[in-house]
Amino acid sequence: ACPPILAIDGPAGAGKSTVTRQAAAALGLLYLDTGAMYRAATWWLMTAKVNLGDPIAVAETISQCRIEFVPQSQPGLAPKVFINGQDITQAIRAPAVTAHVSQVAAQPAVRKILVKQQQLLGQNGGVAAEGRDIGTHVFPQAGLKIFLTASVEERAKRRWQELQAQGNPDISLAQLQADISQRDYADQHRAYAPFRPAPDAIEIVTDQLSIEAVIAEIIRLYQVRF
Ligand code: C5P
Repeated sequence: ACPPILAIDGPAGAGKSTVTRQAAAALGLLYLDTGAMYRAATWWLMTAKVNLGDPIAVAETISQCRIEFVPQSQPGLAPKVFINGQDITQAIRAPAVTAHVSQVAAQPAVRKILVKQQQLLGQNGGVAAEGRDIGTHVFPQAGLKIFLTASVEERAKRRWQELQAQGNPDISLAQLQADISQRDYADQHRAYAPFRPAPDAIEIVTDQLSIEAVIAEIIRLYQVRF
């Protein structure tokens, strides 16, 4: 039998990446960061100077892209992301990419291409996938669906601390909060496959929880169920 899929959806800055990666490692599942795929597509389009407002040009360009994940030797490290053979692991986290990704991710043709690739990766189960539409569209059959969230204040604070630690002291907390709110809004209000919790998802509000506690709870839920 196929190992059941773990689907983790949530807004920007809720801690999805760390939580999903660690849970995947503990449960022996393949980690799939679907946000990285939308970021990779956006980076490629911006680098190729494709007009992001032209859905036909965008779709044509994306259909020719090959996105790959390369696991790192050290467990717990995020996999490297490649597009058409080029390592863009760092580049896709740039503020310019973050600022434009929702516009690209709103386009149905882009979503259809990337969702198909995601479903292919999960066709034999055994995947822990994180994103915005995993429980609703990509893997509606997932064995366990988590909706991971936190207040926008808390999420902005975490991002700010992360950026400080990386030596980016220039961004204000207020600006981060505004950016996060704007991206949440765009993702929730797009016409096609909007970001929303699956009806059968278990919601975890992480404001008062440590990352370790969240990971432990998700592992527990998965093991209790399977
Ligand atoms: O999770 P992350 O912040 O990297 O996602 C970047 C963007 O990609 C989101 O703001 C959203 O616009 C898009 N996305 C999506 N569907 C997913 C994952 C990400 O639309 N499953």
